[in-house]
Amino acid sequence: MSTRVGWTKARPAHEGKRKESLAGASRPLKILITGGTGSFGQAFVRRVLAGRDACTVRVYSRDELKQYDMAQSFGHDPRLRFFIGDVRDRERLVRAMHDIDLVVHAAALKHVPICEFNPAEAVKTNIAGSQNVIDAAIDAGVRRTIALSTDKAVNPVNLYGATKLCAEKLFVHGNVYAGARDIRFSCVRYGNVMGSRGSVIPLFKKQAETGILTITDRRMTRFWLSLEQAVDLVLQVAGEMRGGEIFVPKIPSMRVVDLARAMAPTAQIDEVGRRPGEKLHEVLLTAEEARNTQDLGRHYVIEPDHGSRREPSLSERSVPDGFVYASDTNTEWMTIEALRQHAALLVGASEAASQRSLETAPRGGTMAALGQAS
Ligand SMILES: NC(=O)c1ccc[n+]([C@@H]2O[C@H](COP(=O)([O-])OP(=O)(O)OC[C@H]3O[C@@H](n4cnc5c(N)ncnc54)[C@H](OP(=O)(O)O)[C@@H]3O)[C@@H](O)[C@H]2O)c1
Repeated sequence: MSTRVGWTKARPAHEGKRKESLAGASRPLKILITGGTGSFGQAFVRRVLAGRDACTVRVYSRDELKQYDMAQSFGHDPRLRFFIGDVRDRERLVRAMHDIDLVVHAAALKHVPICEFNPAEAVKTNIAGSQNVIDAAIDAGVRRTIALSTDKAVNPVNLYGATKLCAEKLFVHGNVYAGARDIRFSCVRYGNVMGSRGSVIPLFKKQAETGILTITDRRMTRFWLSLEQAVDLVLQVAGEMRGGEIFVPKIPSMRVVDLARAMAPTAQIDEVGRRPGEKLHEVLLTAEEARNTQDLGRHYVIEPDHGSRREPSLSERSVPDGFVYASDTNTEWMTIEALRQHAALLVGASEAASQRSLETAPRGGTMAALGQAS
């Protein structure tokens, strides 16, 4: 898949088929990413900066140390700017979004047990924070905003999933508040990102050294997605979105026990029982949603119940009635060999990243090294 950032200017429904390339825009493209210091954020920023000379990317997050480390590891690229801010702070978001063309909303509390034990905090960040992002984007006149959602938002059984379901609903409905202005909100929904912070791969790697791997249920399956694929999807959606859609990538499934075998073939595997709020299998698309879903080839799109629908093209077709996209009934699977290769690459990449950050550790230690917010 291309690594160039070459999306076309998304067009409102009333503009018909006209396409205007942002690549030829007279001013540099300005992107803001909430949660830009996270796993997705850093991969996204790296790709955008690599694919486009004329751009500014603003990172919006709370922790100054993560921003400091990120500025270092990106070699203080002048196109990269940092805003300290919380998505709970709407005014700060409006300021950060001044003159921005595209917002990617990645900030979230995403650890299932942590959300379970701190429900009010998860609600403030994932639900109230998402509404703030929508309100700020409308006030600042941002034309395209994309929120990252998860398979855990589908028929949620834990608070994390429930908050992401609410965030999806807010984003779909945000288009109504934008009125007739060319301001649009859409979501992408995908499964576990392998190699992201808190994913099972670093855990298995650590456990492999002890000779015992723990898995919660041998029957468990999950969707498999790399950070690069997640970035690809968001960049594609920036060009395709009409507002109100939820985009779902077509991705393979894996058996968690196969991943354990791939990473530590001789280790003992202990089954420790499912955690509260943990599903045996995940679902990306329900039978109810299938009624509004188009198959776009590389991904599915769940159209909003109300509002503008995309004009069907030859490559688009509705999914069959009753279609369910679930990790256990998926037709594409990761083999143990493929899992072994991917896990080795991800472990290698994360070790190289920690080595890089050790090598670029602060010498004089001043926040002045960070790019100033514009
Ligand atoms: N990783 C997955 O497997 C997966 C799968 C599906 C969907 N997603 C979704 O993808 C998004 C990104 O995930 P990720 O893996 O990149 O997460 P991550 O590595 O944990 O990064 C989260 C980012 O959000 C920021 N953040 C947290 N709370 C914030 C707040 N109140 N205000 C501003 N920034 C805040 C964090 O920085 P500070 O702490 O410094 O603020 C960090 O930059 C999330 O929305 C997640 O729900 C992830």
